[in-house]
Amino acid sequence: MRPSVTPRTFLLALALLCTLLGLGCPLSCEVCRGSGPTCRGKMKTCEAGKDACVVIVGESSTKGHHSVNTYKACMKFSDCYSGFVSTTMGPRDYMVSNTNCCQSDGCNRGSVPPPQNNRTENGLLCPSCIVPFHETCPGTQVARCVGQETHCIYFAGNVQAGIINTKFATRGCATETACNTKPGAEVPSASYLYFLRRADCLPAPQPPGRAE
Ligand SMILES: *[C@@H]1O[C@H](CO)[C@@H](O)[C@H](O)[C@H]1NC(C)=O
Repeated sequence: MRPSVTPRTFLLALALLCTLLGLGCPLSCEVCRGSGPTCRGKMKTCEAGKDACVVIVGESSTKGHHSVNTYKACMKFSDCYSGFVSTTMGPRDYMVSNTNCCQSDGCNRGSVPPPQNNRTENGLLCPSCIVPFHETCPGTQVARCVGQETHCIYFAGNVQAGIINTKFATRGCATETACNTKPGAEVPSASYLYFLRRADCLPAPQPPGRAE
């Protein structure tokens, strides 16, 4: 068989060269989005500044419509937080997810375990609202926090769903892990891509009658 330079050998040689020279080499990650607890897609070279591969499995309910989705892509490592996040805006509007961020070629090819979805109320309450097309929201409703959700969040910015990009604002309960999210971050969920301009996160107030 005649030796030939396949794209794969070329990429391997390039990666080796980059490593030997100590250069910042572009990373390649699996890229896909789909329903279910995993997805399969093509390997793609990450654009400049995206120095991590991410895999997110999310379970969500939107107005009672339940779904499980997976997202794999390149992203900025400093915006990427591995682990479990749970947010609740109302009994029929919530999201739980497991995320893994990693920094070697194709490291997101595997899957992550589906997130636990503990809907048991823990007694904490947060102001709640979900407003599309606006960047503020009044929080006049109340979300009952569940499971490990101990914080109240107020996130706002833009959200991209497919080709649609619109402003959004939302408030509700979240796990403390949601507080890692900072304004200016481009944050994917299993279903959407968020560009956050506001990411407030505070411990939920203790309900009256419960001694600290
Ligand atoms: C579910 O959440 C409740 C309320 O925080 C907690 O008491 C319970 O231990 C949790 N269950 C599991 C299986 O983690």
